[in-house]
Amino acid sequence: MKRRSPNRPTAEDKKIQEGLRSSGNIPVHIAVIMDGNGRWATERSLPRVAGHNEGVGSVRDIVEACGQLGVGHLTLYAFSTENWNRPREEVSTLMRLLLNSLQNETDKLHQNNVRLTAIGDIEKLPVKVQDKLAQAISITKNNTGLTLNLALSYSSRWEIAQAVRSIVRKAQKGEIELDDIDESFIADHLTTKGMPEPDLLIRTSGEYRLSNFMLWQLAYAELYISPKFWPEFHRKDLYEAIKDFQKRERRFGLVSEQVRRRKNGGEKSLANKIFESITG
Ligand code: IPE
Ligand code: IPE
Ligand code: MG
Repeated sequence: MKRRSPNRPTAEDKKIQEGLRSSGNIPVHIAVIMDGNGRWATERSLPRVAGHNEGVGSVRDIVEACGQLGVGHLTLYAFSTENWNRPREEVSTLMRLLLNSLQNETDKLHQNNVRLTAIGDIEKLPVKVQDKLAQAISITKNNTGLTLNLALSYSSRWEIAQAVRSIVRKAQKGEIELDDIDESFIADHLTTKGMPEPDLLIRTSGEYRLSNFMLWQLAYAELYISPKFWPEFHRKDLYEAIKDFQKRERRFGLVSEQVRRRKNGGEKSLANKIFESITG
């Protein structure tokens, strides 16, 4: 598929984006728990599906804005392991929506140089969805812009359990020693292998919980809770979240002074070393 006419920001957007970039601190990886589709619909006396449909528009807007801003990775929590237990009707609606979105959006993602990836128990998805997903991943695999990572049939505890199984299997075969198992070894057995850890987590709809999402990877993420339901969360809200993120002091267990010294390019202190080992 050839790449044509990528989307361009409006003049106003460009100004805001330049402002955010000028601080030199655009998150490398933003993770989003897209929540509140159902409540958005219920508030308008609409069926829940209307909220899910409307939510696709927010996905489009946030993906575009992240691409334009130069965010490296965007992980969207689109369907959790626990969501399989929702009423059958709602699950099939969500699967249909996912299939349609992959069908309709892949071309545009490709035009915008987006690389699509997915994490989760993908084999649980309907075969048609798996096929479309594999196709979209393959079409976009050499793109060099934003990596859009979809968490589908994903939960953190599922992910950790499968990592433990794969590590124990290696141990049983005698391929590894006990001392090989350190933090980076474990990270390499998670589905996010090779991805930077999220530095900003956004959750919409005012809920203050992680709902089994990236428990390992979010260890030092900055949390941003928006009161807005996902269908009403748009690029301006993303800009607010990033602005807020840029005001935070990320200390990684250190004291302020150490962090300041590091920022000012102080001597290669112990603080620097700890900081670098955590932030990569
Ligand atoms: C998020 O919206 C979408 C999914 C979890 C698939 P919800 O469907 O959870 O909406 P609420 O939380 O019920 O409002
Ligand atoms: C989290 O939302 C999962 C996704 C956004 C895909 P939920 O709506 O499923 O989370 P809970 O049930 O409110 O914790
Ligand atoms: Mg919800």
